[in-house]
Amino acid sequence: MDHHSFARPEEAVATHLDLNIHVDMDKHRISGTATYDLERNGGDSVVFDTDGLTIEKVTLGDGTEAVFSLGDSTFLGRALRIALPKGMDKVAITYHTGPGAKALQWLSPAQTAEKKFPFLFTQGEAILTRTWIPIQDSPGIRITYDAHVTVPPELMAVMSATNPQEHSPDGSYSFRMDKRIPSYLIALAVGDLGFKATGTRTGVYAERSVVDTAAWELADMEKMVEAAEELYGPYRWGRYDVIILPPSFPFGGMENPCLTFATPTILAGDRSLTALVAHELAHSWSGNLVTNATWNDFWLNEGFTVYFEHRITEQLYGKDYNDMTSLLGYQDLLATIAQLNTGKHPEDSALRLDLAGRNPDDGMTDVPYEKGYAMLRVIESKVGRPKFDAFLRGYFEHFAFQSITTDTFKTYIRKELLVPDNVGMDLDQWIDQPGIPPDVIIPVSDKFNKVDEQLALWSKGTPAKDLSSSGWSTFEWMHFLRHLPVGQTEKQMDELDATFHFTASGNSEILAAWLEQCVKNNYTKAYGKLDEFLTTVGRRKFLVPLYQELIATEKGKALAMKIYGNARPNYHSVSTRTIDDLLKWKSETVKSEK
Ligand code: BES
Ligand code: ZN
Repeated sequence: MDHHSFARPEEAVATHLDLNIHVDMDKHRISGTATYDLERNGGDSVVFDTDGLTIEKVTLGDGTEAVFSLGDSTFLGRALRIALPKGMDKVAITYHTGPGAKALQWLSPAQTAEKKFPFLFTQGEAILTRTWIPIQDSPGIRITYDAHVTVPPELMAVMSATNPQEHSPDGSYSFRMDKRIPSYLIALAVGDLGFKATGTRTGVYAERSVVDTAAWELADMEKMVEAAEELYGPYRWGRYDVIILPPSFPFGGMENPCLTFATPTILAGDRSLTALVAHELAHSWSGNLVTNATWNDFWLNEGFTVYFEHRITEQLYGKDYNDMTSLLGYQDLLATIAQLNTGKHPEDSALRLDLAGRNPDDGMTDVPYEKGYAMLRVIESKVGRPKFDAFLRGYFEHFAFQSITTDTFKTYIRKELLVPDNVGMDLDQWIDQPGIPPDVIIPVSDKFNKVDEQLALWSKGTPAKDLSSSGWSTFEWMHFLRHLPVGQTEKQMDELDATFHFTASGNSEILAAWLEQCVKNNYTKAYGKLDEFLTTVGRRKFLVPLYQELIATEKGKALAMKIYGNARPNYHSVSTRTIDDLLKWKSETVKSEK
């Protein structure tokens, strides 16, 4: 039972989508036909999810027009119910998207790197695919798809499927995804793209001026795929490419099959932020091969992926690297749970969520990621790596191309691992109770212990230039910045910035952590940079803490409103939904959209 879809698979379920669409970059509109093959299971209709779509007509497989109705509008959109004669197993829905389609971000040339052409990307997870395709939009339902997409001839289209590596002469592109995937993984990007290979199976797409930089930064992609296969079995999706999107992309990355969508903020210039690619690649097993059946089971996607990501980066970059990133993740987890405990949904710190009646996006905190990872580390330590790896390989194989619930996982791991190995552990507490169980293994990092020593010296008055920070990685700087003593004076912030050049950092993680401290310490000299960062970058993970810190004071709040007023048109709906709520923002457009 999926609380976030109107689909009734027990009546009729779509098995294949043939999507024929035109992308109008001027009118900001996608229009065309979604033709479905159906499996009839009983009943005399089929139900699809839609949100903001105009349904022009529905045709049956025999060419006759179908009778259809649209249900009431809710936060899930509207149910499209199509009446089906006995035995009818094909429907074609002709439709176009609305102006506020939440999956889509239409960028003007000014919002791109090249500043010459418009750009479009989609973001489907969790329940946004229904805003650009009428679809059974539940992660428990899987389909194959073909797509025929026309775009202006100067632009190129790519999807979560087999992809072109060159522009077509006439702007028409065909795609095929012949593996069954959940709807949230259907994705499209349109822009003036170039491509560069990073290996035989891997490569990067980006706006032309970004392609070389991106290919250099992501040079390890091929090795990552090899390391992943070595761990948990063959990569089943053909090619693995990454597209670097314009900076308004609301996430770090999105695991669209064959083609990860990624933020340009991972292009640090020193390859230090590529764990994000390891993460999205890992989803090719955890998430895309074995999928959470409902959004309550989201930790099955993300917890396993964080674990897998760490195994890939440990293989490539070693134990110190992993100890650091694991500890940063644990710090995030503690901070998130503390925050949840002061809010309306402290129960969201359980692994299995109860998101009925809520937008699933609101339950997608660091908990499914980092608590999921922490639980898998506990199991790993109890059975030993060789056995845990064998279990995971078997798990991905056994449930390949299926969507499963937390209960299915529980039954499987008990039978395959915990019972035979006599593992004593309170799985139910980990999965269904809030907070962190006592058997958690807290990550330890020798490198961070050294950073802590320097932090202690700094707080006792040692000048910044005398701190031993040479050779510090991005993660050591992040740890340092996160743990600056409370209440730094302007003089101290001046000294830190003059010595370590944080405000000028081209590393988004370091810059974001620094700017957070600038707001906390009211260091207004960096507010020009803060304004610029908030106006150009749309990655929600960076935006939320900065706005949150700003609104803690009256003066900061006024500044937050002013910056947001300018920046908001540059953000994707995923980010504006969260920040509108945080700032209690009400604009005319928001009112009319809701
Ligand atoms: N699948 C997520 C992104 C997502 C989550 C989209 C929830 C919609 C709803 C993706 O794999 C992810 O986790 N991205 C992270 C990066 C990762 C390294 C933790 C991000 O975007 O920050
Ligand atoms: Zn993920």
